Order: sequence, then C-alpha cells, then structure tokens
Amino acid sequence: MGRGAAVEIRGAASCYRALVGSGLIAQIGKRVRKVLHGKRCAVVTDTNVAPLFADQVERGLTSGGFHPIVITIPAGEKSKTLEQASAICDQMIAAGLDRQSFVIGLGGGVIGDISGFVAAIYHRGIPHIQIPTTLLAMVDSSIGGKTAVNTADGKNLIGAVHQPSLVLGDIDVLKTLPRREFNQAFAEIIKHAIIADAKMFAQLQSWEASGALALQSLIKRNIKIKSAIVAKDERDQTGERALLNFGHTVGHAIERAGKYRKFLHGEALSLGIVAACTVSIKRAGLPSGQRDAVLGLLHRFELPTRLPKNFPREKIFNALKFDKKFEGGKIRFVVTPGIGTARLSSDVTLDDIRNAIGEL
Ligand SMILES: NC(=O)c1ccc[n+]([C@@H]2O[C@H](COP(=O)([O-])OP(=O)(O)OC[C@H]3O[C@@H](n4cnc5c(N)ncnc54)[C@H](O)[C@@H]3O)[C@@H](O)[C@H]2O)c1
Ligand SMILES: [Zn+2]
Repeated sequence: MGRGAAVEIRGAASCYRALVGSGLIAQIGKRVRKVLHGKRCAVVTDTNVAPLFADQVERGLTSGGFHPIVITIPAGEKSKTLEQASAICDQMIAAGLDRQSFVIGLGGGVIGDISGFVAAIYHRGIPHIQIPTTLLAMVDSSIGGKTAVNTADGKNLIGAVHQPSLVLGDIDVLKTLPRREFNQAFAEIIKHAIIADAKMFAQLQSWEASGALALQSLIKRNIKIKSAIVAKDERDQTGERALLNFGHTVGHAIERAGKYRKFLHGEALSLGIVAACTVSIKRAGLPSGQRDAVLGLLHRFELPTRLPKNFPREKIFNALKFDKKFEGGKIRFVVTPGIGTARLSSDVTLDDIRNAIGEL
C-alpha cells in the first residue's frame, strides 16, 4: 500500500506537494480531498493512457465524493494545440464546471502541458492536479508550473505559468511505459545531475534497474533539483531557471530538424547535451574526461550520442534561429565548467555551436 514520499515545493505564491510512491492512484480521492474542496473536475487524458488508468482514477474520485468527467484526446504531440485546449474547455462548460472546479492531467508531458494550460485559463484560472504517467513527466514536466500549447510556428509558444495544487507520481504506472519512452527520461535526469548534482551523476554510473525503491528515490531527487531551481526563478527572469535548458538549445534544434518524428525529446536532448559539453570544454574549461563520462552515462541508458551519418546537420543549424533563447540575436548558452555545476555564458558564438553540431 502506497507509502508515498512527499516533496514540499514552495513557490512565490504557492506551495504544493509532489508525492512519489507505489499505489498512489488508488488513494486519489483521499489525496485530492486534502488539498481541494470543489466537487466537479475534469480528468484530461489521452487515448493510450485512458484504457490503462482512467477507470481507476474516475472510481477513486467518485468514491472520494467528487464528480469527475473524463476527457480523452488523441495521444501525441499533435494534440497540444489551442484548438484542442478550446475543445476541452467546451466540454467542461457543457458539463457545468465552474470556478470551484478543477482539472486533473492524467498522462505524459503532453497531457500535463495542455491540461495545465486549460486550468490556467478556464474561468481565469482553476486548480490543476498532475498525475504524470511517464518518467519524463514525473522528473520534469509535472514540476515547475510551465504549461503550454504549440502553434504551427513552434513548440510551447502559447502558455502560462500555473503551479499545480498537487503532483501524484504513482510509480506503478511506469510498468506499461514503452522502454524507449522510459529511457528518454534519463536524458533529463542526467541533465539534472550535470547542472546540479555530481553525487547523483556518480550513482547513475553504477545504476542497475534495481527495483521500485531506487526508482522512487531517484524521481524524488530529480523533483527536488528541478523545484529548487524553479523556486529561485519561477517566471524565468533572473537566468537561474534557464540552467534547466542545459543541452536544450541544440536539442530543440535537432528535434525540429527531425520534424519531431526522428527523435523523442529526450533523445534529441541527449545529443544536445553532448554538444553543450563540447562547447563547455572550449568556453568553460570542462575537462574532456568529464565529457567522456557524460557520453558513457548517456550510452548506459541507450541514448544517442552521435547523429545518424546522413542526418542533415545544416538543418539543425538553421533551426537554431527559431529558439526563443536567440531573441534579439544574443546567445545565452548554458555551459558546465564541471559535472555538478552550470552557468549561463554570453561568450559562446554561433561558430562554437556549429562546430559542436559538426562533431556529433
Ligand atoms: N512543462 C514543462 O516544463 C515541460 C518540460 C519538459 C517537457 N514538456 C513537454 O512534455 C511533452 C513530452 O512529454 P512525454 O514524453 O511524457 O510525452 P507524451 O505525453 O506524448 O507521452 C509519451 C507517450 O507515452 C504514452 N504514455 C503515457 N503514459 C503511459 C503509460 N504509463 N503507459 C503506456 N504509455 C504511456 C502517451 O500516450 C504517449 O504516446 C512535450 O510536449 C514537451 O514539450 C514540458
Ligand atoms: Zn527537456
């Protein structure tokens, strides 16, 4: 029975708990009642996740005295649009959800982002609960309050910062997650280690897929790392939160160049991390042995460290200019001077990045 480990997350205007453990979904009614008083809620989920867990969530909420409606959208990034958000709102209005109601996102990062966005705008903002069902969503996207949808021009261009009231990370749901989806989360985990936790980096080097407790404490640790960084800079203004973008400048460009089909986010990030380490050797004095250690660790989790031979590298470089971080032509690139630390640098040139991409 779910002995969940809780992480308290304090923000400027909010405080919420992220629970990580086994059997948490079964306790949903009780867990939600502790933080919210409204009765009506929408459970937003996708076509892969709904058949697996929606019934259990719905039953748990109903027996806890809530009146849930389940809204299922097609699985995949293509659903993360303003149109889909609007359709979800319409269903909520039709079901009579009001200002006292709340939204639960049951799914991976796509569901977390769009359900959070709906919660941020519905009646000018109602509470949001995250039930992340991918490892990536547990260690990254469910924490920090960033919500968004995509437009034809780019990812996450429309969104809001809206902190959840509760995050329920039930590790049992990961049993059905495809291996590739599971592994891609380790790119974000390794990123967290590089920017903030040398000890976790060393632990990952001897990580064996060793049972639920190890996974539970790894997830908790990553939630702590991300939330501590977010707490210092909730709205992305001081540069602290930007450290979480380590590896993402090139990673996003690779995702875009691959038309979001070739690589999963974590796989593109893995390549972006390699490029960021190459840049860091030149601009931040990262010892080259540490770059090798990073590559070794990425390999351990079956993540790519080289581009396929005939991948059009020039396309990656062209995609860079769509990056929000390149606004006004100024480059703000996150470098690591050594595993466990990171800082923003304005010394990095486009040539440095081009060379690093060339070496992938
Ligand atoms: N808000 C943030 O801070 C933040 C941070 C990182 C990423 N993101 C966003 O997260 C998204 C990526 O998240 P993701 O990788 O979780 O993608 P996803 O939500 O598309 O989930 C991946 C796939 O796994 C399926 N799935 C989910 N849980 C499952 C389970 N338990 N068993 C079997 N299948 C399951 C989904 O249906 C989907 O097909 C992107 O849209 C990205 O922009 C947001
Ligand atoms: Zn990421």
